[in-house]
Amino acid sequence: MKILIIGVGYVGLVTGTCFAEMGHDVVCLDLDKSKIEKLKKGIIPFYEPGLQELVQRNQKAKRLQFTTDYEALESAAVCFIAVGTPSTKTGAADLSQIEAATQEIATYLKDYTVIVNKSTAPVGTARKIKQQIRDVLAERGADIPYDVVSCPEFLKEGSAIDDCMKPDRIIIGSDSEKATRILQRLYSSFTLNHDRMIVMDLESAELTKYASNAMLATRISFMNELAGICEKVGANINQVRIGMSADHRIGYHFLYAGAGYGGSCFPKDIRALKAMAEGLNLETPILEAVETINEKQKKHLSKKLSDYFARKGGLTGKTIAIWGLAFKPNTDDMREAPSLTLIHSLLRKGATLRLYDPIAMDNAKKMLKGKEGIRFCLSEYQAAQNADAVILVTEWKQFRFVNLNTVLTKMRGNAFFDGRNQYKPQEMAAKGFHYFGVGVPPLATDLLHKLRSLGKKKAMRYADPRFDHSEALLD
Ligand SMILES: NC(=O)c1ccc[n+]([C@@H]2O[C@H](COP(=O)([O-])OP(=O)(O)OC[C@H]3O[C@@H](n4cnc5c(N)ncnc54)[C@H](O)[C@@H]3O)[C@@H](O)[C@H]2O)c1
Repeated sequence: MKILIIGVGYVGLVTGTCFAEMGHDVVCLDLDKSKIEKLKKGIIPFYEPGLQELVQRNQKAKRLQFTTDYEALESAAVCFIAVGTPSTKTGAADLSQIEAATQEIATYLKDYTVIVNKSTAPVGTARKIKQQIRDVLAERGADIPYDVVSCPEFLKEGSAIDDCMKPDRIIIGSDSEKATRILQRLYSSFTLNHDRMIVMDLESAELTKYASNAMLATRISFMNELAGICEKVGANINQVRIGMSADHRIGYHFLYAGAGYGGSCFPKDIRALKAMAEGLNLETPILEAVETINEKQKKHLSKKLSDYFARKGGLTGKTIAIWGLAFKPNTDDMREAPSLTLIHSLLRKGATLRLYDPIAMDNAKKMLKGKEGIRFCLSEYQAAQNADAVILVTEWKQFRFVNLNTVLTKMRGNAFFDGRNQYKPQEMAAKGFHYFGVGVPPLATDLLHKLRSLGKKKAMRYADPRFDHSEALLD
């Protein structure tokens, strides 16, 4: 099938490439000329594992092409809109990119085409697109049939190709049987194993996307709220999580306390859902709480550091290493990353920062351009050099088995703030770190002294999570 994708961001490029991989004839269009020029040479504008190879392969096979010219619509049977929908100042979704794309679609429409909106947009957007096209066609004096369908995207940056190739579900919001049939055929190659297409009305499809992201953000904020309680009562959020997840109604996924959610979707989508409800005079106390908790959580690590260094002359003049800057692992996306809140806060408090991320350094440099007190480092080890504390913010896999003994010898201090609970407190203490997790109670001070005074072998016995530490105090 001939497909046009409008907007070559994370969603557009991955979707277009996956359709090409399935044998379709795909043209990807973007207004950004330099992006398109690079893509024509096989250069990907952002980091997504496996994407470069897939793009190049399909380009070579001539199934995937790039253009800035809307004339490409003339031969397309299906046209996907995958442009950005950022927040306006009020928090509502800014639909100007969708409107601009729709204007061009209506201008270039030639024959029956299915217009599919993939951008996350408020309920009613598909009907607005339909109306806008109708108005332009009327101006053109053209009577061309078309349908508008809502097909929200659920891929995750970092695993976008897998998500696109093996989707959990494909939501098709449609009021046209013909358009539904065309999309079912188009997507059938992605669901050969079992049917995962869910057909519904336009409004429900549009709301399903916001509902899904709001539920995921709620789980994160819920765990972060519980983590705060854990820290006060001496419980461990990791154990609580495992205990509660064993109930199949709750499940094990997406229940991690940490540095707060960020990225290009959750924050803006929660704001947009709230704005949508506000516009209807509806209250959204759950969404309010989800946002409030998240804002608080993004400041949590900075506060922990302030408290820790309060007894050591404050943060002014201290050197802090930050490991991981992207809003999550396996992406270079820095949009609304929790690391940014932390960085700005620590700089305000007078700290000097040594930053490292495996992939997002270029984007981080752009976003922090002109900020004083920052040194960008080439590795996690270089970042730790002379640091009074290390903070792990993004849980890249390479940080899991870092040589912590080497890290400690490079540091000036020994504080380690684990914003993603990647390490075992006892092991870290046994190595000589002053370790702080999120929702993990600090080791009892007397136990800490004991661990440090022990030889390595014995200390590791204490570090075994199966070991009962209450006994250690009597040992
Ligand atoms: N990024 C994600 O993980 C993700 C996941 C699911 C859904 N979404 C949603 O998908 C949509 C796209 O997200 P993204 O992250 O890919 O966006 P993005 O900002 O990375 O890319 C959008 C692209 O659209 C282009 N564009 C803007 N106006 C245009 C126009 N009139 N004609 C042609 N091109 C135009 C821009 O130049 C840009 O390259 C958003 O609504 C987002 O909420 C994103």
